[in-house]
Amino acid sequence: MTDVLQAPAPQRAPAPWVQRPAGLCYGGDYNPEQWPREVWVEDIALMKEAGINLVSVGIFSWVLLEPREGEYDFEWLDHLLDLLHDAGISVDLGTPTAAPPAWFWKKYPEALPVTREGATLGNGSRGMASPSSPEYRRAATNITEQLARRYASHPALVLWHVHNEYGAPVSESYDDNSVLAFRKWLRARYGTLDALNQAWGTLFWGQKYGEWDEIDAPRVSASVSNQAQRLDFRRFTSHALLQCFIAERDVIRQYTPDLPVTTNFMATNCLSADYWAWSKEVDIVANDHYLVAQRTDNHVLLSMDADLTRSLAGNRPWMLMEHSTGAVNWQGRNIAKRPGELARNSISHLARGADAVMFFQFRASRFGAEKFHSAMLPHAGTGTRIWREVLDLGDDLKKLAAVKGSTVESRVAILWDVESFWAQDLEWRPSSDLDHRERIEAFYTVLWKAGISVDFAHPEADLSGYDLVLAPALYLVGDKAVANLRSYVHNGGNLMVSYFSGIVDVNDTVHAGASPGALRDVLGLEIHEFLPLRHEETITLSNGAAGTVWAEEILPGSATVLSRYLDGPAASGPAITRNTFGAGTAWYVSTKLDGDDLAGVLLDAARGAGIDLGTQPPAGLEVVARNAASGKFTFLINHTDADAEYPAAGLDLLSGETVSGTAHIPAGTVCVVHTPGVTS
Ligand code: GAL
Repeated sequence: MTDVLQAPAPQRAPAPWVQRPAGLCYGGDYNPEQWPREVWVEDIALMKEAGINLVSVGIFSWVLLEPREGEYDFEWLDHLLDLLHDAGISVDLGTPTAAPPAWFWKKYPEALPVTREGATLGNGSRGMASPSSPEYRRAATNITEQLARRYASHPALVLWHVHNEYGAPVSESYDDNSVLAFRKWLRARYGTLDALNQAWGTLFWGQKYGEWDEIDAPRVSASVSNQAQRLDFRRFTSHALLQCFIAERDVIRQYTPDLPVTTNFMATNCLSADYWAWSKEVDIVANDHYLVAQRTDNHVLLSMDADLTRSLAGNRPWMLMEHSTGAVNWQGRNIAKRPGELARNSISHLARGADAVMFFQFRASRFGAEKFHSAMLPHAGTGTRIWREVLDLGDDLKKLAAVKGSTVESRVAILWDVESFWAQDLEWRPSSDLDHRERIEAFYTVLWKAGISVDFAHPEADLSGYDLVLAPALYLVGDKAVANLRSYVHNGGNLMVSYFSGIVDVNDTVHAGASPGALRDVLGLEIHEFLPLRHEETITLSNGAAGTVWAEEILPGSATVLSRYLDGPAASGPAITRNTFGAGTAWYVSTKLDGDDLAGVLLDAARGAGIDLGTQPPAGLEVVARNAASGKFTFLINHTDADAEYPAAGLDLLSGETVSGTAHIPAGTVCVVHTPGVTS
């Protein structure tokens, strides 16, 4: 749903990629303010040794740059940028607005964010102010302007890094300024209170509003809060955060109109921002990704995150702005990366469209909250495996420079709409086992294992280029998306829908009639009752598959029943169906299938959609291609302890060896085969 208050993105030519360095970008966050100046000199020499060509600086330096309100000290940053420039290292300059100084909080305590429970968050950490605080916006744009004015013509500067990870750790704020801004946003969205009352269904539980100033932020209340109100507050919050970014970006553009401006996303890991809207506002999409260390399939989740990032970037090159060389410090068990994992992770992002591989951070911090976080240069220094792997990666990225600017082509798309996740995550749903993230991961994993490249798409986006579109979790579907999905299938597209999709509209109001109201005729069936299963209950399908979590009483209309429930609450009823709608086909899967059971259904649909599955990769071998005018780059990343083989021909850019017919990928290693003249 388009945010009514968001001005359309101005018509600008797509911003250029960073003008320097010439090859792939390699580097990380660099926080030299934690070290004496002699260490800076040592750091820069080590950066050169590693082939680092881009660093992000100043991200948390507000208090050093503006030690007292209106008093500035740029001497240290002048010196640092000069040193970096002299060494040929380019700078991604941060605006430090994710960490306002102590003087700011003392003077403007009303800018402190307030939680839904009513707690005012204190200072002494990091994280932004209330996004609706006028004092914060003024102070943030001021320090940004000071930086932009001072460094506009500095030769090291190639990119602006606004703020840090908007939406984390602060997103929704329930302070007074936010309530006022929310009301203003609602007035612009609805125009009249009647329209708002209708959209929010306020006749339920007698919640009707008679005056705009009766409306509060949906703070914790006696029972479940109005769900449409909560959904709107999430939309409003994403919008308010985005306005903070736009305010800084527009100040910067006055001084450096030709330099790209970005901010770091957390693609699949931040549900506070609607990144489809955000990606229209940044010049280059940049992303931070950290492994969920305890998951043994975290390389698959990494791929999913990278594929979403590429999709947000409109399939243009994007930056991996942060990831880690080893363990992070903020998970329950901070599992270290195993030898080779640093390279596999980095090259997987690259394979999925990144033209920059950056880490948090260059030198490990001795003090502060992140002293146990890995870095490119660990506490133990240059005699370490991590440092050697950092040097090796620098070499590899030079060998892979030809990949720069190439693109990834996908014939399959998974629908991704954060508004749908926001709505589904509200209270009082039919089962606490419903989990949109889990279903998307399950569908994605089947395709990853099959070596099938996947884009993500908003349900209102043009889908006509995809042979198969998947909706593993699309609870909320607005009218525009309904029309889009209908016409996609009607015109010959193939759509596979999983349970609890197509249920409500943009106000979390159930589409009229039997579910799934938004997709009933496309799927050719009606659901008469949701039949959630008990914890760990398993049901059997006539095709031999096992279902968990969910079943439904389905009345098939035009749909063909492919498989039935043999037992459980929907016994003898349809479980999996396929319908012809116009020139296209729509599949429906009404229970939670996993592993081979899900793969069976999904890969059948892929074949039905005309997708050639080709040679199936051995377990744990990641296969993905980037295409350029010069030919195809096939990335083969072996995540296992066993050697692997895969058909390929050309030159392995990393080993320099010719591959004729079969690539041999030793355990834990990577091959990147360039096949000239082939483009898909
Ligand atoms: C990121 C953040 C960095 C650093 C890193 C540690 O989310 O942007 O500043 O904290 O996490 O993993």
